[in-house]
Amino acid sequence: MCSEYAHFVDINDYPTEKWEEIFSKAHTIKEFLKNFRSNDFSEKVMATLFFENSTRTRLSFQSAMTTMAGDIIDLGEHSSINKGESLKDTIKMVAGYSDIIVIRHKYAGAAKVASMYATCPVINAGDGEHFHPTQTLTDLFTLSEEKHTFSNLTIGVCGDLKLGRTSHSLCRALSLYPNNHFVFIPCDGLEMPDDICDFILKHNCTYEVVKTIEEKIDTFDVLYMTRIQRERIEYNYDLKNFILTKQSLKTAKKDLLILHPLPRNEEISVEVDEDERAFYFKQATNGVYARISLIKMLLDHKEQTELFQGEVMALECNNRNCISRHEKYLPHYFVKTEKGFRCEYCDHINNGLD
Ligand code: CP
Repeated sequence: MCSEYAHFVDINDYPTEKWEEIFSKAHTIKEFLKNFRSNDFSEKVMATLFFENSTRTRLSFQSAMTTMAGDIIDLGEHSSINKGESLKDTIKMVAGYSDIIVIRHKYAGAAKVASMYATCPVINAGDGEHFHPTQTLTDLFTLSEEKHTFSNLTIGVCGDLKLGRTSHSLCRALSLYPNNHFVFIPCDGLEMPDDICDFILKHNCTYEVVKTIEEKIDTFDVLYMTRIQRERIEYNYDLKNFILTKQSLKTAKKDLLILHPLPRNEEISVEVDEDERAFYFKQATNGVYARISLIKMLLDHKEQTELFQGEVMALECNNRNCISRHEKYLPHYFVKTEKGFRCEYCDHINNGLD
């Protein structure tokens, strides 16, 4: 299945050179907007479809659009999805009203489904526990501004590494650069999925797993903190080893970059906000510039995009949170891999073990 448009569903659909082009333009735009206004997006309409809660992603997309003199239409909470309209029909309608669609959804693969039926570019603003590629653009843009490199880094990743889509996208992205080492500090039962660990090793980067933040904090160039995804799981374990405090920063490098996609719960104590290594609020602001640059790229370049590599099979994906389990008209695309059949919506490997 082919689309006439370039979409942004998975950051790894694009080569690293393209990301760096986005960051370079984002930097130029950020500097320009300090002194001037721009009407680059005038007469363009963005539709924002958020089926899950959001503050930063929704508002930074809306800010990106309006800062450049574009317009926004927002689906809101009272759409006809509540009357049983399918995602396919919703997208076909919304594409008729807009030039670009941004979608956040609770099921993995929803943005890919949107890209199948939209007659305009689609941006994935988070699909369940799967990916959050524009957060990764924001994270990498912040890294590019503060560290000026994506290589030779030791990156601590702490919190809910199982369900936190931002850490998945970040690790997959930084694995494409040489000599990066990941130190995972997962909360109990929330370990990094095997497919992400395999991806890291396949790309010649390395990882280890430790039990507390303090154990290896002195080696970190970046510490990426994440919250427990309580909207997806009930969680009552003790979090004391997974909370960043002033005390735990005692042995950290002077130029450590502390990042967090936000929102924050208890995992970073508020006293850390005063530390000059805390970059999470600046990181969120950077999201506007990274997104302006991305929107510009997608509006400027129409191109043929092949949406699936595999074939339609008479299989059902075992992932209960895969969009194909909920939108029944979808063809079931799978790619045969050494480990089983990979669903092309949610990337779940179906091997008869689950
Ligand atoms: N980082 C992020 O996705 O935040 P929101 O859920 O508030 O959009």
